[in-house]
Amino acid sequence: MEPVSSLTSLDVERVREDFPILQREIRPGVPLVYLDSAATSQKPASVIESIDSYYARTNANIHRGIHTLAEEATAGYEAARAKVAKFIGISNARQVIFTRNATESINLVAQTWGRANLHSGDLVILTEMEHHSNLVPWQMLASEKGLRLEFIPVTDEGLLDLEVYQTLLAQGPRLVAFTHMSNVLGTITPAKEIIRLAHQSGALALVDGAQSVPHFPVNAADLDADFLAFSAHKMCGPTGIGVLFGKEALLEAMPPFLGGGDMIRKVFLRSFTPNELPHKFEAGTPAIAEAFGLGAAVDYLTSRGMEPIASYEHGLTEYALDRLEEVPGVHVYGPPAQNRGGVLSFTMDGIHPHDVSQVLDRYGVAIRAGHHCAMPLHEKLGLAATSRASLYLYNRTDEIDRLVEALYTVKKIFGS
Ligand SMILES: Cc1ncc(COP(=O)(O)O)c(C=O)c1O
Repeated sequence: MEPVSSLTSLDVERVREDFPILQREIRPGVPLVYLDSAATSQKPASVIESIDSYYARTNANIHRGIHTLAEEATAGYEAARAKVAKFIGISNARQVIFTRNATESINLVAQTWGRANLHSGDLVILTEMEHHSNLVPWQMLASEKGLRLEFIPVTDEGLLDLEVYQTLLAQGPRLVAFTHMSNVLGTITPAKEIIRLAHQSGALALVDGAQSVPHFPVNAADLDADFLAFSAHKMCGPTGIGVLFGKEALLEAMPPFLGGGDMIRKVFLRSFTPNELPHKFEAGTPAIAEAFGLGAAVDYLTSRGMEPIASYEHGLTEYALDRLEEVPGVHVYGPPAQNRGGVLSFTMDGIHPHDVSQVLDRYGVAIRAGHHCAMPLHEKLGLAATSRASLYLYNRTDEIDRLVEALYTVKKIFGS
């Protein structure tokens, strides 16, 4: 098999040097093999240093003070917003709202746009492969407002059934909210086409980009997405900060989300007027250090190049699929490599996924076991849980080999 490094311009050895945690041994002589990036990615030194240096040199609250530190903190926070906008192909940074994570971004849309615009009987289309973050906010709103929720089914190949989607669109939905990449099956959904069809039927489209934005180029303008949600911590950035992109006219018309400082222009005893975008949706002191970290993460990914990252991960995914399929009794879920990213959920005959990941940990191999916040999808697959290995730009083929070797040991231990 062709080595992955020859397929791409990404120099994985140099990349690995950027991530201090990859030097770590899980126990003496057992190096870390981190295959859990779909849960959260590791952080390069430049991101860690940006947060450290923010606290060591700049720390001040933003948007209020007129002293040097406050001005520098504000400038850094807003520079991060501009970097994020550029990263997702947006020229107007007023359309980038900082939230806590992708989950909060989706809840923001449900609780503001949704509450103001959706009424009893209105249809919201979701898919069967959604993370709970893009299900529960709509279920909550549906029970409050009497909305109808319908779901694009997942086919046996792990793809979305676009024929059924067309029949759902004929029912006149108000919103189509869907994942750009499944955190269980790895399926990359045809987002541009889904959005085009949604718009044709008069619906808005919300894209859950939690697993796509970190792994391949995502251009919100080209997709024509109305909303795009994602988290910094899955894209080499820190926890505690996420992003909601929204089209300006929609954001302007939406009521504020949380109330408090910074989101107001004027406050009277019995009323207030909201601030302008994007501050209208950022109540209270935000995650300032984390915004610096997110800005550094965007710089890092940009310096490595999202195209090379995507093509490197694609090669790695092909390699991982081939190697996992060699192991007798291992079943990998999801579509073939051409339709998927580097998320590989699998089961082993007769062995519980939690047992698999526990044994793997002895060999330093970090994977995840469970329902991965997608219980309805697991129910559809007839499974309570899966093991999930997930890849990023710093993984190597020899780490996949370590995973596969460890799986053979798991089989031996459990006598299967
Ligand atoms: C597809 C998808 N959507 C949303 C989320 C939620 O992200 P967060 O927990 O950062 O809000 C995740 C996290 O795993 C995810 O994989």
